[in-house]
Amino acid sequence: MLIDGKQIAQTIRSEVSDRVSALRSAGIAPTLAIVVPTDDESSAWYVRSLVRTARKLDIETQLHELNGRADELEELLTKTGSDPSIHGLICQTPLPGNLRLADIGRAIDPRVDIDGANPTSLGEVASGSTTAFPPATAAAVVEILRRTDVPLEGRRVVVIGRSNVVGKPAALLLLNDNATVTVCHSRTVDLPAVAREADVLIAAVGRPHMVTADYVKPGATVIDVGTNPTSDGGLVGDVDIEGVEPVAGAVTPVPGGVGPVTTMVLMRHLVIAAERR
Ligand SMILES: NC(=O)c1ccc[n+]([C@@H]2O[C@H](COP(=O)([O-])OP(=O)(O)OC[C@H]3O[C@@H](n4cnc5c(N)ncnc54)[C@H](OP(=O)(O)O)[C@@H]3O)[C@@H](O)[C@H]2O)c1
Repeated sequence: MLIDGKQIAQTIRSEVSDRVSALRSAGIAPTLAIVVPTDDESSAWYVRSLVRTARKLDIETQLHELNGRADELEELLTKTGSDPSIHGLICQTPLPGNLRLADIGRAIDPRVDIDGANPTSLGEVASGSTTAFPPATAAAVVEILRRTDVPLEGRRVVVIGRSNVVGKPAALLLLNDNATVTVCHSRTVDLPAVAREADVLIAAVGRPHMVTADYVKPGATVIDVGTNPTSDGGLVGDVDIEGVEPVAGAVTPVPGGVGPVTTMVLMRHLVIAAERR
């Protein structure tokens, strides 16, 4: 069975839309600021898609483009995040020079950190607090599992990937939901055997079609976070969907799986931040 991420996104979208209307009625214009540090093409594509989605939801957007001026990034994040008319702030990657999001993310006020870039947000998630916003992609993984009624309590979950933006926060959120979580990475020995123990397998690697049927326990739910560009301008996931679908109980496609849900989770985070303000 294919899990329809677009359908899940549509459901979240109507919830977000109602909340935006309530904010507008109260005289509040929910506003998303997007800092774009470089002129990276795939980042620009994602930003355009975010702005379109925000507009359709009656959410205001502000774009701040730096064209690679690394020395201005920290100040821009601090200044924009403290602007009272802003409710959410995201900083696009890649970053210029040797900057790391884990360092520069500290400049984002946690109250507007709707994509969990500040390390304190990850710390809050680790401590089980629900005040901070986890990275939207990690939250989208959990959202898909909840909305498709996949049981998590006591179940074996294997996350392949340990980045701060996807693998680690996804593992922490699933642990908070009482799953038994194993996190794998490039040094994991006999990865297919570890993955085959999973009732729920999350692939967040960035290697096209790496996860084959050999990684999947029959009946398992497989969530494919990977977005790997193809030479013809398309996208493929980390999961070899043709091989995996007959073995898995359910699998998310790429595109049309985690991606659209991530965007809507981000918009929901923005609305929550605006409601709190
Ligand atoms: N759908 C969305 O909304 C969304 C959002 C964000 C990212 N993504 C996609 O998700 C994927 C992962 O993103 P990311 O930012 O987490 O990437 P990342 O920072 O490059 O992390 C990749 C992780 O995969 C592990 N890995 C690499 N090769 C491996 C191998 N052969 N076997 C096992 N593990 C391996 C790495 O292990 P080490 O730590 O040992 O190096 C690392 O932990 C990418 O395709 C990205 O485009 C999608």
